[in-house]
Amino acid sequence: MFVKDIQLLSFRNYENIYFKPHRKMNIFYGQNAQGKTNLLEAIYILLRAKSFRQANDRQAIAFDKDFSFIRGRVESFGFDYIHEVKLSRKEAKKLRVNEESIDSLLNYNRNNPVVLFQPEDILMVKEGPDLRRAYLNNLLDQVDGSYASLLKSYRQILYQKNLALKKEEDPLLFDVYDRQLSQLGSQIILKRFALVRLLGPRVQENYEKISRGGREERVTISYQSSFSEDTSLEDMKKIYWERLKKDRSKDLHLKTTSFGPHREDLDIKISGREAKNYASQGQQRSIVLAFKLGELEVIKKLTSQMPVLLLDDVFSELDDQRQALFFSSIRDCQSFITTTDSLKESPGEDRNLKQYKIENNQVKER
Ligand SMILES: Nc1ncnc2c1ncn2[C@@H]1O[C@H](COP(=O)(O)OP(=O)(O)OP(=O)(O)O)[C@@H](O)[C@H]1O
Ligand SMILES: [Mg+2]
Repeated sequence: MFVKDIQLLSFRNYENIYFKPHRKMNIFYGQNAQGKTNLLEAIYILLRAKSFRQANDRQAIAFDKDFSFIRGRVESFGFDYIHEVKLSRKEAKKLRVNEESIDSLLNYNRNNPVVLFQPEDILMVKEGPDLRRAYLNNLLDQVDGSYASLLKSYRQILYQKNLALKKEEDPLLFDVYDRQLSQLGSQIILKRFALVRLLGPRVQENYEKISRGGREERVTISYQSSFSEDTSLEDMKKIYWERLKKDRSKDLHLKTTSFGPHREDLDIKISGREAKNYASQGQQRSIVLAFKLGELEVIKKLTSQMPVLLLDDVFSELDDQRQALFFSSIRDCQSFITTTDSLKESPGEDRNLKQYKIENNQVKER
């Protein structure tokens, strides 16, 4: 899948720009605060209909304007689709594909997988479990059409149950909530197990590729759950339900539900030790990039689509050797890469890329 052209109107610092990206690699280079990340954001919104920057994508509307418009031609499974997103200060966001209005995000972005790297993704390795759960949720959302609604239902019921725990409501009500939580929660856990099974060997392999240089380091990941990986759905639902019942008096005391996929974690180890506590800064960066490359392969396998790759400031994270190795791994897909300096091109070398200079609110092809 790839973006053939894109137009932005009143989007962040861009008044009206249009360009046709390369089928493979695209470099956006320029000084700080020129609008490089803004371009990645626009492409992300074109494909996923929401921003990666903040929940409220109205912030992307140019300061002095009331609406913003992103339009682009996307090729997916050999067909062209014109995608349009209109952000408005006063109305709800409007989405169209081939001039037809789309009322749900799911119908808009089903075929547009994206892999995004941002420098702050390193927090996923360093910090608490919520970023790792968010990572798994986001990836599952892209490869499994039913995951988003499953997670939404789970969260709604969890929210209601926690409210009821605070109010110490009728115990019969908790039976109803717990039944639903054990059904939905078990499915979420099994989907996460299955994803991590696919992702694990790929993260390990890509880490070895990027960090080639002799040292014996192995990155292993596993989904940390109270259940063992081979539990069947039916068994899991039963055990889950028993566990919620057993925890009830504790949860009434804590006024929250202490068991479920909202408390589980993805464990990341380097040579058998917690990456969070033992990996160096550089190793943590390489781990995140190995995740991104693994993600690319998993999405390709599960959706038969090559995702679009958006890489923000990835070069500042890598030395020359790692850069070259990383480059060779992303040759097959369309990528958009921001950097402060243009890439040096040796004469006669066909690098299969376009470079754009980002300056004075314009995008100029070199
Ligand atoms: N809604 C908006 N309307 C107009 N301009 C905006 C809006 N939001 C952000 N900007 C401008 O966009 C610029 C930042 O763009 P961006 O984050 O893309 O920079 P960048 O080129 O990625 O910089 P860096 O190299 O520092 O990451 C800022 O100067 C900011 O004022
Ligand atoms: Mg930036």
